[in-house]
Amino acid sequence: YGTQQINENGHLTIGGVDSVELAKKYGTPLFVYDLQLIRERARGFIETFKKLGIKAEVAYASKAFSCIAIYQLAKEENLSLDVVSGGELFTAIQAGFPTERIHFHGNNKSYSELEFAFDSKIGCIVVDNFYEIELLKEISEERKQKMRILLRVTPGVEAHTHDFITTGQADSKFGFDLNNGQADRAFLEVKDHEYLELLGLHCHIGSQIFETDGFGLAAEKLMKKQGEWKEQYQFESTVLNLGGGFGIRYTEEDTPLEPHVYVEGMIKTVQEYAAKLKLTMPEIWIEPGRSLVGDAGTSLYTVGSRKNVPNIRDYIAVDGGMSDNIRPALYDAKYEAVVANKANEERLSTYTVAGKLCESGDKLIVDAPLQQVESGDILAVFCTGAYGYSMASNYNRIPRPAVVFVESGQHQLAINRESYENIIQNDLPLSLKKGEY
Ligand code: LLP
Repeated sequence: YGTQQINENGHLTIGGVDSVELAKKYGTPLFVYDLQLIRERARGFIETFKKLGIKAEVAYASKAFSCIAIYQLAKEENLSLDVVSGGELFTAIQAGFPTERIHFHGNNKSYSELEFAFDSKIGCIVVDNFYEIELLKEISEERKQKMRILLRVTPGVEAHTHDFITTGQADSKFGFDLNNGQADRAFLEVKDHEYLELLGLHCHIGSQIFETDGFGLAAEKLMKKQGEWKEQYQFESTVLNLGGGFGIRYTEEDTPLEPHVYVEGMIKTVQEYAAKLKLTMPEIWIEPGRSLVGDAGTSLYTVGSRKNVPNIRDYIAVDGGMSDNIRPALYDAKYEAVVANKANEERLSTYTVAGKLCESGDKLIVDAPLQQVESGDILAVFCTGAYGYSMASNYNRIPRPAVVFVESGQHQLAINRESYENIIQNDLPLSLKKGEY
């Protein structure tokens, strides 16, 4: 993946840095991010729009991995930002991210989160539901402050990896249904509002998608709706946001497309329908999360105990697990790994990689082909950069790992390892007196 290689000691290197040295210096479990790969991906999306002469915003969907340093990298790479909570917005602002390039998502934004967005003068709120429209009207009118908005719609196109399905009505907690009049009602509620400036429509059809037809079909549906609104109300939208969901390669079964292929695919459809329906070509916004940071992240663990279940399998246990990567337990997600200090040896053995948490489902990889493993070896699990750290927990009171960034032979801490002190920092002593029963 990315800049990974094997050095003269047989160690895995990332960004020109020896992963075994990183494990020694920063401890394990450790997330290592290869910045070059993130930059290349970001540029892959942005340059494609430029080449095609299409105005665009590529917003990093930061739920995939959020911290101050990654927001600063996103700023350096001219990305916009998709945040989904006050916490992500706060982190982005602390990072010095330009607020006019921040888009705020979520199906239940609180009043105070929305006020925070207005205070911060963010670029756009992606409106999800009728309750939110009420809140936005109230806040914007009270402040006499403008806010740009998109309406999130569910187009009845749902895509996963190789397939997509279309349904008349999507059973989704997100957005206004495009097919049953909800989206039209929402449009009528906001189109002439004094302070809410409607830019256009948004949809997100799924995650880990390996084909372009689903995006094309969604684009077609949204463009047709915009065509109707132009005809009936002379409303012309300026933005079409087609969400994220571009796939990455976790294992060899996954066959993602290059960023430019996804972009070219969707642009073709939008241009076709813009011409057909005599609409001005809108700006295209997209929201890649996983495809920017997913395969740039590698988790390093130290192997501890081992167990043989005769005639069934060999287990090796690492010093993290579902507390830093819940995806195998939650989604049955698959990963590949190598022994980082023996990366030059062939993977002729098979082990099930267990975590250290008190839960039998805490397995990172079942039956992984690996080098011969001994206690003390460093295990590198690939492609953990998206929804790994960001979904980490303190289950079993395990401190969250540290995060290190590497690039061109340099390395730096991006997030400190949590300490036991951090873990108890919000705990308070028992102060109630024993009751009488
Ligand atoms: N935009 C919207 C509105 C989204 O809901 C999402 C992801 C994205 C963009 C970014 O999607 P991506 O490019 O990362 O696929 N925790 C799950 C993934 C949940 C995705 C939620 N929404 C996982 O670990 O696979």
